[in-house]
Amino acid sequence: MEKFSIDIVTIFPQIAAAPLSESIIGRAQQSGQVEIRCHDLREFTTDKHRQVDDEPYGGGPGMVMKPEPFFAAVEALRTEHSRVLMMTPGGTPFSQPLAEEFSEQQHLIILCGHYEGVDHRVTEALVDQEISIGDYVLTNGTIAATIVVDAVVRLLPGVLGDDTSSIEESFGGEQGLLEAPQYTRPPEYKGMPVPDVLLSGHHKKIAEWRREQSIERTKATRPDLLD
Ligand code: ADE
Repeated sequence: MEKFSIDIVTIFPQIAAAPLSESIIGRAQQSGQVEIRCHDLREFTTDKHRQVDDEPYGGGPGMVMKPEPFFAAVEALRTEHSRVLMMTPGGTPFSQPLAEEFSEQQHLIILCGHYEGVDHRVTEALVDQEISIGDYVLTNGTIAATIVVDAVVRLLPGVLGDDTSSIEESFGGEQGLLEAPQYTRPPEYKGMPVPDVLLSGHHKKIAEWRREQSIERTKATRPDLLD
């Protein structure tokens, strides 16, 4: 199978490249487990001023991103295996199941919007799915794209050193519960002891305690997950 690859198209390629060059995702790129290319949308313009936005038809504040550079970008980058995403606060909420679905693709093209929006013909003609990372508005979609890429790339085979660590975690586990609290040394810190059960070496009791804690924590902060 072809190597998994991602093309991010944005007017701020450095905003995407910098966080993805560090840590686990940076190493995954260096070791060739994934190829991530950050493109400057302006490279796909043909006019002297490399213009990527224009005034909205019908009036209103702000600027709208022009269709032509996005069409040129997707036409240049798309293969028969590509899935094209557009980052926008109005998209489908991003989630762990979507991250898993995207990690099973071969090629993602992620388009990042900016300003007041993107000409709707881009969405209609080019985009398979619009994605939002949450109910808040960022200055542009590039930071949102890095979040999607991080969540997807860590699921690729071999990217996390420890194969079990992507399984037994919040949302990734079978039960859809939040994780139990974790502790490490020292056993007591600033008067706060580590729960005795974790020091007991009793694996069955530890598993029971973790499950109870998971349920309590989920009830307290994410009751919607229990519905
Ligand atoms: N662009 C601006 N805000 C966004 C969000 N919440 N999700 C995805 N893209 C965005």
